[in-house]
Amino acid sequence: MPRTRPSSVLFVCLGNICRSPLAEGVMMAVLGERGRDNGIVIDSAGTNGYHTGEAPDRRSIAVAAKYGLDISAQRCRQLEPADFTKFDLILGMDRGNLAAIRRRMPAGGTADIGMFSAIALGKDIEIPDPYYGGPEDFEQVYRMILAASQSLAERF
Ligand code: 4NP
Repeated sequence: MPRTRPSSVLFVCLGNICRSPLAEGVMMAVLGERGRDNGIVIDSAGTNGYHTGEAPDRRSIAVAAKYGLDISAQRCRQLEPADFTKFDLILGMDRGNLAAIRRRMPAGGTADIGMFSAIALGKDIEIPDPYYGGPEDFEQVYRMILAASQSLAERF
C-alpha cells in the first residue's frame, strides 16, 4: 500500500457493469459502517466504453440487493485521463484491467495503481470476470470484494 491513508479510490474493471460497481457499493457501505466515510471519494469505471451510461448488470444489482445494498443508481463510465490525478488509488480487478490502467496512465498522473486483492489483502489473486457466468459467479465475486473491502477499509 503506497499511501498510508488514501482518501479517494477508483475501482476499475472491463465493463464497469459487473465487478467495479459492486466494489464501489460494498466499499462505501463498509466505510459507512465503520464511520470512516467522511470526505472519502469512492467511484468506479471501466477500461472499455461499451456500456457507458448503463446501470450495473442486473445480476450485480441482484447480489448487492441480497446483502442489503442498492447499487442500481450507478451509471457506467469509462476510465479517463483526469482520473489519474483525481484519485489517490486506482485498483483493477484482474491483471488485464491492471495492464490497461497502466497503459492509460498519462504523463503527470499521480495515482497509485494496483490490483484490488493484492493491495487490500496482499494476495496476488484476480477477481474473476463473471459476465459469462451464473449467479454463483456473482456470489463469489461479491464475497471476494467484501473481504478485500473490509481489509482495505482498515487503511482509511
Ligand atoms: P465487468 O464485466 O468488467 O466486471 O463489468 C464485464 C462486463 C461486460 C463485458 C465484459 C465483462 N462485455 O464484454 O460486455
